Amino acid sequence: MNPSENDLDQAITTAAAELKKANRVAILTGAGVSAESGVPTFRASDGLWEGHHIEDVASPDGFRRDPKLVWDFYNARRANLAKVKPNPGHFALAKLEERFGDHFALITQNVDGLHQLAGSINVLEIHGSIHRTRCTGCRRIQHHELEPFAELPECEKCGAMLRPDIVWFHEALPQGIWQEATAAAALCDVMLVVGTSAVVHPAASLVPIARRGHIADDKEGSTIIEINLAKTEASEFADIGLYGKSGEVLPRLVEILNEPDA
Ligand code: OAD
Ligand code: ZN
Repeated sequence: MNPSENDLDQAITTAAAELKKANRVAILTGAGVSAESGVPTFRASDGLWEGHHIEDVASPDGFRRDPKLVWDFYNARRANLAKVKPNPGHFALAKLEERFGDHFALITQNVDGLHQLAGSINVLEIHGSIHRTRCTGCRRIQHHELEPFAELPECEKCGAMLRPDIVWFHEALPQGIWQEATAAAALCDVMLVVGTSAVVHPAASLVPIARRGHIADDKEGSTIIEINLAKTEASEFADIGLYGKSGEVLPRLVEILNEPDA
């Protein structure tokens, strides 16, 4: 075993000890947790947005200008997602929820639905879901299979165009879900920050919110554990950094946590 592996093992053991003491746990995940399932991340060089200006395919203005371009883009993502499966990182987080039950919140920026497929229950999708559409007229929300739409989808009730139920640039986050996410962050004893570059706000501000704790309840700040390939904007808040693939680190962490006490 090389020295850095040894360091990582030690850091995982320290992280497991923090989780063992914790009463409430919150997780913040980003695209990195799905990378090992074959879903491209946003800010990698082979990123999803390549060939498209973000504003063209992920903003209300872009959709107004060229809905076909936007739907072609999302249909391609939907077709890709129909083929992918959760990876060991997703499954480890579902197992972690079994341990903490009601005192556990999984806040995700991902729209791919892989956490739920792996068995996670309390998932707060702060950026929406690619499995749903929202009517641009009557705002009705519908679930859909991931098959690409052959034509621009329209609302059966009011005839207006449907759009992906995803939070785009310049749009507000779904308010109720965001409130639940900030409460979970402020009240948790440990937060795991997994596979996110932590550059997109307000999502990334959940990390300093957790760090600060809950002033009204006089609750101390949480222990922050970052799991990523490399350091990020969130690292300055992290007490423990586990730098490796989430699909490898998370199962090791949960396994050590669930070992019977010696
Ligand atoms: P990014 O693509 O910005 O960041 C992905 C992070 O995952 C990077 O920090 C990588 O180092 C890390 N990573 C990659 N592979 C990993 C692996 N196997 N294990 C652990 N970490 C790995 O994605 P997000 O932070 O999720 O918003 O991006 C945030 C938001 O930006 C997205 O939700 C999306 C986008 O605009 C909306 O769609 C509204
Ligand atoms: Zn409608």
